[in-house]
Amino acid sequence: DGLGLLFALGLASNLLLYVYLLPYAVPTYPSLMSSAFTTLLIAGVVLFSWSARRTTLVGVLICAGFALVGAKLGQQGLPMAPFVSTLCWVAIGAALAVACARVLGRFRTGLIQRQDELAALSTRLISVQEEQLRRLSRELHDELGQSLTAVSSYLWLLERKLPPDLGELRTRAGEARHLVAKTLGEMRELSQLLRPPGLDLYGLAGSLEAHLEAFRGRHQIATKYTAEGLPERLPEEIETAVYRIIQEALTNVARHAHAKRVWVGLTARGDELRLEVRDDGVGLPADNGASRPSGIGLIGIRERVRALGGTVSLSSGPGGGACLRASVPMPREGGGAPTASGANS
Ligand SMILES: Nc1ncnc2c1ncn2[C@@H]1O[C@H](COP(=O)(O)OP(=O)(O)O)[C@@H](O)[C@H]1O
Ligand SMILES: [Mg+2]
Repeated sequence: DGLGLLFALGLASNLLLYVYLLPYAVPTYPSLMSSAFTTLLIAGVVLFSWSARRTTLVGVLICAGFALVGAKLGQQGLPMAPFVSTLCWVAIGAALAVACARVLGRFRTGLIQRQDELAALSTRLISVQEEQLRRLSRELHDELGQSLTAVSSYLWLLERKLPPDLGELRTRAGEARHLVAKTLGEMRELSQLLRPPGLDLYGLAGSLEAHLEAFRGRHQIATKYTAEGLPERLPEEIETAVYRIIQEALTNVARHAHAKRVWVGLTARGDELRLEVRDDGVGLPADNGASRPSGIGLIGIRERVRALGGTVSLSSGPGGGACLRASVPMPREGGGAPTASGANS
């Protein structure tokens, strides 16, 4: 932007200079034309991202046209000196424009490269994070879960074997056992949240239904889930991404929407998988949350969709509430037979 402004200022002062010199220039026509052509060239470079090659071509054409007109006017006996000097200025302007095109082109290439690197990094981060969550979930479930189950059994044994005169201790053992059971339940829930085992075992549809059921129970929000033409299994990265996107969208519904109902829909058609999470809550903030520091939930959703080469949009629904829509490309073959439409509420 700064560069564009500088060009604009330079050209404006250039033009002013010409206007100031107008009475002295004989004839004035070529100098004004040279200014206009230089403006045209630089505008092409800055506004329309002309490449150095195109700028050179246009610049050479302009110079050639200028020289041709000059030669023609020279034949008619007009003085040639102002024309030749202006032609030099046009050539210098064209050379400057080509240099600008080169510098901007290099900036642009660098920027695209950084963007690609960032995209690759975020894709890698997502997969590393997913792998870590899976490991953590397994450790929680297998290691900690088994140890706690063993502690619970020992406490139960203790409770039963303690002599009746140690009633107080017996009560404490019972309480400890209940606490262990409660912790075990919470830990299982946490482990499920980290990496739903159903996703690996039963695929997307089954895991989503289980998640929606838990969501209903936890937040007292009615859910409706529909799946249309969904293959039994999808590539792992699509299943994980879609599950995580819906998980985050539902968390947002519970956290921000004050909704009574939420609709989750998955539609597979051709080589496209569409997902929609819609609620009947308060809807998005007027500025889409731009005024307040937002979390990284929506950024994560966008990153996951981008990594799969899809598109995503979040809008306020027609009757209030928010609606998240995403579409990701899906391989045609490789999945099982499509399941029939399913629904639950
Ligand atoms: N279903 C929804 N209903 C209303 N507002 C929402 C909904 N989903 C997202 N938002 C808005 O978008 C913002 C950004 O969401 P997100 O990136 O997930 O961050 P966080 O949930 O941590 O605030 C939220 O703060 C909220 O204002
Ligand atoms: Mg969120």
